[in-house]
Amino acid sequence: MLCVSTFHDQPLVMPCKYRSILERVLMVEQILSEFLLKKEELREVMRRMQQEMERGLRLETHNEASVKMLPTYVRSTPEGSEVGDFLALDLGGTNFRVMLVKVGEDEEKGWKVETKHHMYSIPQDAMTGTAEMLFDYIAECISDFLDKHQIKHKKLPLGFTFSFPVRHEDLDKGILLNWTKGFKASGAEGNNVVGLLRDAIKRRGDFEMDVVAMVNDTVATMISCYYEDRSCEVGMIVGTGCNACYMEEMRTVELVEGEEGRMCVNTEWGAFGANGELEEFRLEYDRVVDETSLNPGQQLYEKLISGKYMGELVRLVLLKLVNENLLFNGEASDLLKTRGSFETRFVSQIESDSGDRKQTFNILSTLGVLPSELDCDIVRLACERVSTRAAHMCGAGLAGVINRMRERRSQEALKITVGVDGSVYKLHPRFPERFHKIVRELTPNCDITFIQSEEGSGRGAALISAVACKMAACMLSH
Ligand code: BGC
Repeated sequence: MLCVSTFHDQPLVMPCKYRSILERVLMVEQILSEFLLKKEELREVMRRMQQEMERGLRLETHNEASVKMLPTYVRSTPEGSEVGDFLALDLGGTNFRVMLVKVGEDEEKGWKVETKHHMYSIPQDAMTGTAEMLFDYIAECISDFLDKHQIKHKKLPLGFTFSFPVRHEDLDKGILLNWTKGFKASGAEGNNVVGLLRDAIKRRGDFEMDVVAMVNDTVATMISCYYEDRSCEVGMIVGTGCNACYMEEMRTVELVEGEEGRMCVNTEWGAFGANGELEEFRLEYDRVVDETSLNPGQQLYEKLISGKYMGELVRLVLLKLVNENLLFNGEASDLLKTRGSFETRFVSQIESDSGDRKQTFNILSTLGVLPSELDCDIVRLACERVSTRAAHMCGAGLAGVINRMRERRSQEALKITVGVDGSVYKLHPRFPERFHKIVRELTPNCDITFIQSEEGSGRGAALISAVACKMAACMLSH
């Protein structure tokens, strides 16, 4: 039997091993229905997340908790800030960025920030070689940037956005607990990250820097949004990785002495699931993604959500549909069979497609398959299911944080702003809307505003450095 399908009015004739179209669609639906999560299930995820957050904050349970709730030493007591030039570094995604940030005051004594930046891609061998290689590469990039802007002679204060789990001892001191997101440089875990950076700068010997603050990207995002909206007390990233931070009452941050005010806690919620909390929600595709990753068994919640894994999840779903003879006539191309070939940006592009399926057709063609219209629609549905589950899972986590904040503050109603950044949140056409909807449904009596941060990682690191400089009354040599 032959099926005739059309694409741009061109008939595609192909052998058809399928039963009726209806039967095929129903079988696809059945396979993809595993990705749908009921409201009750999301409430359960939220409840478990809150439980792990509580365990992470408490001294007796902190070590076993999957959600580490790391104190950041960023406090709620603003001391004012220095003005001047700051250097900001941003390491944690696929690129490394160096920025020159000019912090000034506007007429109302608020912050005024201007930035110049340069992006450097990180070679694979720097990501997975030794810590020395990675930090030498970082120092080389800084040196290049200082040359470009003719500021090598200045000893600038530096804020470092380092987007991995760090156990801080102070704002400018903390050890890397473990790498995530495909980084694996040996000899870094368990060491003071600022020390590694200072050593690399010393080894080069062609410039000097005064490292005053190290922050997570969620924290930098929150700070940079706080600068626009003083109700911003939560920062979230949905990009290569996924994580959130928020302002917690000091009296509940048991890992740090003191009762007064609030401290920003980096939840490191990406690690949620390490104690089995997500087992009944993880599907066969999630298990393959995890087993073939650089960090099996770790970051299980992140692996359901973030951009590092979303494309690969879709690819595995497509292969399943091919194997069940429901897609591409039961045949996958060699490229589609190759790990990592289906990039996360394809998910965004396919879901942005208008009715003509043009982008979907082009993407699938570059992957070596010639799809029918129905194939294109099935691929789009697979993308929608995977990305919607990501938005809903992530929403359950954020709802957990926000409900906790309201309860801790004993407020009838909580008005709060969340600063958000990350490629999935910013580039996926439907992620924000699906995410906002579920968060609002799960957080009664909360009035939530979401704002996107612009260059949050760099600006946030510079702003917190400006505050740190004021507190330490550090002498700025410029
Ligand atoms: C890291 C976090 C980071 C997040 C977003 C995760 O893999 O553990 O520290 O905030 O990615 O970049």
